[in-house]
This record gives sequence, structure tokens and C-alpha cells, in this order.
Amino acid sequence: MIDEKTFTKYLNSTDIEGIVASLANQLNRDYEGKQVVLIGVLKGCCVFIADLCRQLKADVEIDFVRLTSQGKGLTTPGTVSIVKDVSVDIRGKHVLIVEEIIDSGRTLKFLYDRLQASQPASVEVITFLDKKDKRMIDVPVKYSGRQIDDQFLVGYGLDLEEKCRNLPEIYFLKYPN
Ligand code: IMP
Ligand code: MG
Repeated sequence: MIDEKTFTKYLNSTDIEGIVASLANQLNRDYEGKQVVLIGVLKGCCVFIADLCRQLKADVEIDFVRLTSQGKGLTTPGTVSIVKDVSVDIRGKHVLIVEEIIDSGRTLKFLYDRLQASQPASVEVITFLDKKDKRMIDVPVKYSGRQIDDQFLVGYGLDLEEKCRNLPEIYFLKYPN
């Protein structure tokens, strides 16, 4: 499936482990003794949240949301809707939205505002990768593993038309359709 004409390796497993460990260290410092709810944004967060949560020392609950903002191809259409909502009670707890990558910020902003309405103690965002230059809507992203240029990536949860999420490492796609 991975051929060198189409994919270029961007981060290997050691790079990924290093980034996750550094993010987990920051969270372990900032959330010591606090009640934390990780809210993963499906489906892309699945691999990152699994790695991250196993390194956290605070009391952690895990929940997921599923939003739609992107179609099957590489483009991002306009509206966001909820497919699966939060099911744990977040009132008075410290919420961390867990994303694998942030692009325009549209899905994130929608979720951020929605979670704030449930009166958590705090809401912060953690993302493995951040395409900061592509941001169209401003959302405060406190924890970011790595900033990247506008390139399409696959692997480690990131998909191309639902495939490639299972790749353990991250690749640039050289020739998006
Ligand atoms: P946005 O920030 O609302 O524009 O959308 C972010 C979502 O788009 C991410 O959670 C991913 O699901 C998807 N996405 C953005 N960039 C990439 C990429 O390079 N590869 C795969 N999915 C991406
Ligand atoms: Mg995502």
C-alpha cells in the first residue's frame, strides 16, 4: 500500500513516541491532582488518544465525539454536524479536547463552544499536529505536538478516504488527487 512514489515518511515511531511523551509530561505537570476528561474527536484521534492516555497520571475519564466537517476527498466543506455527542458529565471537570490534526479549526471551534456551555472547570485543546497557517477560525490550542505546513498527511489515525489510519508512522502524500 505504501509506495515511495506516492508517500514520503514524515515521522517515524521514535519521533511519534517523543512527541507523545513531551505532551504527556506537560499534561502531567498541568493537571496534577485534577479530574480530567479526555474528549477524543473521532475517528482520527483513535491512535493518538490511546498512546496519550496511557501516559497520564491524573484521574482520567475518556469520551468521544464524532463530528462531520470533511467529505470523502481532500477538501473541507462548510458545515459541522454532530454524529455522536459527549455522554459523560463534564460539569466542574477539566476537559481536554484531543485531536490528531487541526486544519481550518472549524470542527474544533464548534466543539469548543458546545463543551463550554456545559460548565466544565476548564476546556483546553491538545493536538498531535497543527496546520497553523491554515486556520480560518481562531481557537486556543494550548498543547500542540508539532506545527506543519499545508501538506496532506496519512497514518497514525490520519486517513485518506478512510484508509491508512492504521499505519504506525506518518507520511506525506506527494500527489493528492
Ligand atoms: P478542520 O480543522 O475543521 O478543518 O478539520 C480538521 C479535520 O480534518 C481533522 O480532524 C482531520 O480529520 C481532517 N484533516 C485535516 N488535515 C488532514 C490531513 O492532512 N490528513 C488527513 N486528515 C486531515
Ligand atoms: Mg480529527
